[in-house]
Amino acid sequence: MLITTSRKPTLPMLQKANRLSHEWNVPHLAREKRTIASMHHTAASVYMVGKNGKDVLYNKGHDDFFFHPSMATIRVQRLEKGGHDPFATITTLQHGDSFLDLTLGLASDSIVASYLVGKDGIVHGVEKQHAVAEIVKSGLSTWGDGSESLLDAMRRIQVIQRDHTEYLRTLPDQSFDVVYLDPMFERTIDESLSLNGLRASASYDTLQSETLDEARRVARRHVILKAESSSSLWEKYSFERLEKRPSRTSYGALRRL
Ligand SMILES: C[S@@+](CC[C@H](N)C(=O)[O-])C[C@H]1O[C@@H](n2cnc3c(N)ncnc32)[C@H](O)[C@@H]1O
Repeated sequence: MLITTSRKPTLPMLQKANRLSHEWNVPHLAREKRTIASMHHTAASVYMVGKNGKDVLYNKGHDDFFFHPSMATIRVQRLEKGGHDPFATITTLQHGDSFLDLTLGLASDSIVASYLVGKDGIVHGVEKQHAVAEIVKSGLSTWGDGSESLLDAMRRIQVIQRDHTEYLRTLPDQSFDVVYLDPMFERTIDESLSLNGLRASASYDTLQSETLDEARRVARRHVILKAESSSSLWEKYSFERLEKRPSRTSYGALRRL
């Protein structure tokens, strides 16, 4: 990987590029007149620190990865009008609850969770990939398009860059009301175009039984899993399946209460 900036960087952008280069131990190459395509000759991934917190990860031969709230905008609008959201029903999140998202990705589920738990609630999102975590953290704090409640929900999410099993081990028993897992699918689902940019940047770890044991220990009410309806995870871990309607994805719960 290489780190660079967009053209004509400001001092804070250069400082950020230097900080990331140091933290991730990857070279910072001054942008000057270079194109991203020319940088791809020496590195398959180029992380570009952009203007106004809009960073982009360019993966050679794949879609670019940048932050956008994906379906969260429409889902929050729907909830504001009293509409239905399967994730909201299944997680049973209410004002003041705490929610731990172990697979943050683009954070659309976390944004909906943050809207549901409100200003007295807590949403922490764990993401293993450095670049994904950084782009999403930056995007959540600078994105400016949408209702006040959407933007407030985005600003309240705390992003943690770490492997989720390692992170779970550091947490006390029953420290979050709901713990959530939405791993990358075993097979690509064409519908989820919003995740296209994420595909080349994400971690595809298969769920370990230790992760589920730890998640269950840390959850006060339940652990929720989202996975393909045909996933082998359902039987392997005896989840209570919550969505029976024909759908390519399902939710399931491991209840504590
Ligand atoms: C399907 S995406 C999650 C999408 C997310 N629910 C959303 O609404 O945008 C799965 C994410 O989990 C991350 N991930 C996979 N294994 C992980 C691990 N062991 N620890 C932390 N994050 C992990 C991937 O890098 C990816 O970004």
